[in-house]
Amino acid sequence: FDGHEHVWLGEDETRGLTAIVSIHNTALGPALGGTRVWPHATFDDALTDALRLSRGMTFKSAIAGMPFGGGKAVIKADPKTEKTPAMLEAYAEMLAALNGQYYTGEDVGLTLADANFLRERTPNVSGTTTGGSGNPSPVTALGTFLGVKAALKHALGSNSVKGLRIAVQGLGSVGWSLCERLHAEGASLIVADIDETRARQAKEAFAADVVESATIVTAEADLFAPCALGAVLSKDTIPHLGAKIVAGAANNQLARHEDAGHLMPRGVLYAPDYVINAGGLINVAAELDADGYDREAVMAHVRRIPETLTHIFERAHAEGRPTNDIAQAMAEERIGRACAA
Ligand code: NAI
Repeated sequence: FDGHEHVWLGEDETRGLTAIVSIHNTALGPALGGTRVWPHATFDDALTDALRLSRGMTFKSAIAGMPFGGGKAVIKADPKTEKTPAMLEAYAEMLAALNGQYYTGEDVGLTLADANFLRERTPNVSGTTTGGSGNPSPVTALGTFLGVKAALKHALGSNSVKGLRIAVQGLGSVGWSLCERLHAEGASLIVADIDETRARQAKEAFAADVVESATIVTAEADLFAPCALGAVLSKDTIPHLGAKIVAGAANNQLARHEDAGHLMPRGVLYAPDYVINAGGLINVAAELDADGYDREAVMAHVRRIPETLTHIFERAHAEGRPTNDIAQAMAEERIGRACAA
């Protein structure tokens, strides 16, 4: 499993559960990462997603300076039709059996209500409103918004979004909240979501231009913000990108780490996903702090995301290396120091 520490499979045919919990690395602390509910075509696709997502969580936590390791879960199911209370009960039992080795919360397909449901049955669930800090998505969106501004500042010399065309893929919890902020500051939005209702709502709420999900990658824009699923940047899509800046909340935006090498020659600035989208992690991790949750400290931490990104952009430019190489090196340095200590 590519250096992962543990991968657990939870299956309950009667209650319709197929869940993979992947723990990548716990050098910095216990594994923390959300649970995704998604109808992957095959089990292998779900497993690959869980492995990649948990690895990303290790780097995200390391860069954000959190005392947590990388973990993530994928439930292979359609969140609209197959996510039943019985299935979530079975998943809660799986989490309880892991006995504190994995802390989880929301991700694509797992809502605040689901997190609350799980939390009533097992302790290691954060991002709830039943004793927790609530849905982390608006905090993720705030960090992403500030990261968008940092990318604009680095590439264009100004961090204002006013009058810029910004393409947003995915209008879920994070994408919608990001659109609200961009719209409020005068950006002109181009949006796509496979859920037509969401797209229609965004057209009304933000006077956004709606395009097909397949074409948003190529839409001419000043900045492209992927906020749906992963692998949107690949050797096949990168040559057709319609924006010179990519800065969004989706996890695992690059199909392969090496694909960032295709971005550099095209002069595309890429904000590494696990750096720009760390707001949610910072928020849920704060719930688990021994001194208790401190909202102000969380917000101060999230407001440092642009500083970290700017450092990465500048170092990447100075060293002539892709931004994701720099981010990974920074994360590995921190993990290495923790292992040596
Ligand atoms: P969500 O489930 O609320 O929304 C995802 C949206 O993307 C849905 O509206 C869905 O219809 C849409 N979508 C799915 N595939 C699409 C496609 N091919 N094209 C266009 N739209 C598509 O999920 P959420 O929480 O907003 O997360 C979005 C991304 O941000 C995910 O990659 C997630 O892992 C990442 N993320 C979320 C965090 C959070 O706090 N919620 C934290 C860090 C990362």
